[in-house]
Amino acid sequence: MKSILIIGGTGKTGRRIARRLEAAGQPVRTASRTGADAPFDLDDPSTWAPALDGVTAAYVVEPDLRSTVDREARIPRFVSAAVDAGVRRLVLLSAYGVGEADDGHPLKAAERAVMCSGVGWTILRPDWFSQNFSEGPWLQAIRTGTLSLPTGDGRTPFVDAEDIAEVAASALTEDRHSGRTYRLTGPRAVGFGEAAELIGRATGRVVRHVDVDPGVFTERQASAGVPEDVAHLLTGLLVAVRSGRGATVADGVERALGRPPRPFEDYVAETAAAGLWS
Ligand SMILES: NC(=O)c1ccc[n+]([C@@H]2O[C@H](COP(=O)([O-])OP(=O)(O)OC[C@H]3O[C@@H](n4cnc5c(N)ncnc54)[C@H](OP(=O)(O)O)[C@@H]3O)[C@@H](O)[C@H]2O)c1
Repeated sequence: MKSILIIGGTGKTGRRIARRLEAAGQPVRTASRTGADAPFDLDDPSTWAPALDGVTAAYVVEPDLRSTVDREARIPRFVSAAVDAGVRRLVLLSAYGVGEADDGHPLKAAERAVMCSGVGWTILRPDWFSQNFSEGPWLQAIRTGTLSLPTGDGRTPFVDAEDIAEVAASALTEDRHSGRTYRLTGPRAVGFGEAAELIGRATGRVVRHVDVDPGVFTERQASAGVPEDVAHLLTGLLVAVRSGRGATVADGVERALGRPPRPFEDYVAETAAAGLWS
């Protein structure tokens, strides 16, 4: 049976895509280093061919921008291997701002590889995920009550990973998304202070955002082991929020799915009800 391969299939977007496709009766193969259907490591090309066997569509993710192994070349190489193995539809998870980024940006090389692959492609450029507060880098800070980021009073239209997954699942199975790039955002820009307040109210605890000097934030990242260029990249993305760039809402979810994106408040209510912040 022809399968749909989901790279990062145990991650924030991948496992939601897999869940949707399985519910729709599609044959799915999740791929990651541990806990997925196919043992797969982007840093180990010997794992690629078994994962790609019988696959006609693939969700492609650069799972770790901090990787020091072949960061710019590994997705283009994987894309080429996927096409050689018979994949005819590629959906790439990129990020907001990559279109304007410098050539050295790893996701820029990934976008170019997918666009030049010669098969059907769709590129997703999401804003910051709402799920960063509950499954990602900010969860621990939310639990301890203080989220320190160099975002000042800046706002950003957080996008729900459920919406990203629904767009991706549709793009992996329907031709109408071919050749399209979707900027995916939530329905309104939300400040980090407001986000912390909403989460605090929903959980009955005090949660606050504390602004940090961008230089201090970069130093903290570097001393936590993040490579210097990646620390600068992350700080730059957060400073863009601080300076008001990127607060614009986009219509990618509506264009792809014909319905508006999920509000941040719905994400907060559901996540609190599921006990993820307890
Ligand atoms: N978070 C945001 O706000 C945001 C916004 C825009 C774009 N993005 C983009 O989203 C991407 C991350 O996607 P995500 O959030 O869905 O994933 P995620 O939750 O960070 O999970 C990463 C997934 O990739 C797997 N993985 C890690 N290293 C791997 C490797 N070397 N080879 C194969 N698989 C590997 C992980 O499983 P194992 O560890 O078991 O391998 C896991 O399944 C990044 O490219 C980021 O730029 C994120």
